[in-house]
Amino acid sequence: MSKGSTMPVGRQDWSFSDETIYLNHGSFGPSPRVVQTVREEWSQRLNANPMDFYLRQFDAAIDHAAERLGKWIGTEGRDLVFVDNATVAMNVVAESLTLGPDDEVLLNDHEYGAVFRIWRSVCEKTGAKIVSPTIGIGSDDQPRRFESASDISEPIIRAITPRTKLIIISHITSATAIKFPVEEVCRVARERGIPVCIDGPHALAMIDLNLKKIDCDFYCASLHKWLSAPFGAGFLFVHRKWQAKLKPHLTSWGRSLGGCPSRWQDNLNWLGTRDPAPFLSVPAAIDFLEGFGLENFRSQTHELARYARHQLEPILGQVATIPDSMDWYGSMIAIPLPADVSRKAKPNAIHPLQQKLWNDHHIEALVTECHGHRFLRASCHLYNSRADIDALCSAVARLLPGERGQ
Ligand SMILES: Cc1ncc(COP(=O)(O)O)c(C=O)c1O
Repeated sequence: MSKGSTMPVGRQDWSFSDETIYLNHGSFGPSPRVVQTVREEWSQRLNANPMDFYLRQFDAAIDHAAERLGKWIGTEGRDLVFVDNATVAMNVVAESLTLGPDDEVLLNDHEYGAVFRIWRSVCEKTGAKIVSPTIGIGSDDQPRRFESASDISEPIIRAITPRTKLIIISHITSATAIKFPVEEVCRVARERGIPVCIDGPHALAMIDLNLKKIDCDFYCASLHKWLSAPFGAGFLFVHRKWQAKLKPHLTSWGRSLGGCPSRWQDNLNWLGTRDPAPFLSVPAAIDFLEGFGLENFRSQTHELARYARHQLEPILGQVATIPDSMDWYGSMIAIPLPADVSRKAKPNAIHPLQQKLWNDHHIEALVTECHGHRFLRASCHLYNSRADIDALCSAVARLLPGERGQ
């Protein structure tokens, strides 16, 4: 892993329009220009001779990209397959598990909404049941304060029963931006013979990911988020004991067009004709972050998130739910909104504070929701600066009285 900074990096390396203050890399992370260029070069190679590309170049190129990614996250390329994003990865896992009416799937109450929908749909088809232990977030008037990792792992572990067929857990949650103790949950699950699927799109790059150490059964991630690979790049890690059981979410030839010997990834590597440029650009995205220095990336973006936390807390009159430590959060932070502002959201609608941040101030920041309580989430990447956070804070300070009807 690279340590020292060798390459200055900043906003000029991305393609934002002049007025945009972008504090939502956590939802949709754009690529730096150099990665965009590499992606375009791969597409040009495809267009120069598609036959040559798909039949003679594709297999080696995709293996190289998977190998590079695998090394970077403590596993091997042969245990990974590229998919469009974490959502597709999770759907593949959901298709592959054989469930019946006596089975339970354990998804705690901080999990991502779309992931809940995937498993609800599978459970409706198979008769299996979703068991959802409450980690909780407190009430609107009294948000919860987490103090120890066991506040999160214990409710999950307590909910395991002899019927549990799979545990699904975020590595870093979306709405609350909390690092979850996945190692401990995997350790206990392993002792009890229960597979674990980690929903990890926020962990990649934001923390030092080592899949061998975690030893989970499945790991689903999007690479457009913190790694800043092109949109349309994600991966699924599958433990060797599951690889032969994997079923694709779409059916195509199920083999390499180039005539390589068969392997478990075949069903997913070729999903009909498509441009694999986002996958093949992943090594360039890794090079970019390593050029800056991974530890520098993590500390610089954490310091910005920390700055956002300390500036926003007094403005919102709220305290973050987690201790002020890198053990609990990395490059993004979610601060509870005051109860009266939180309640202003209409179901399934964008919160008015988020809307006004963009409409009035050209700031993209997210208002998230967990248990009906809203959080202002700020995501910080290398193109952000304290000035962006200051702009967010002064906009929130200006908008808040209106949101409270004052
Ligand atoms: C925790 C979590 N899981 C899954 C996803 C889905 O990611 P994607 O839309 O890239 O598939 C997200 C997206 O924000 C997320 O935050």
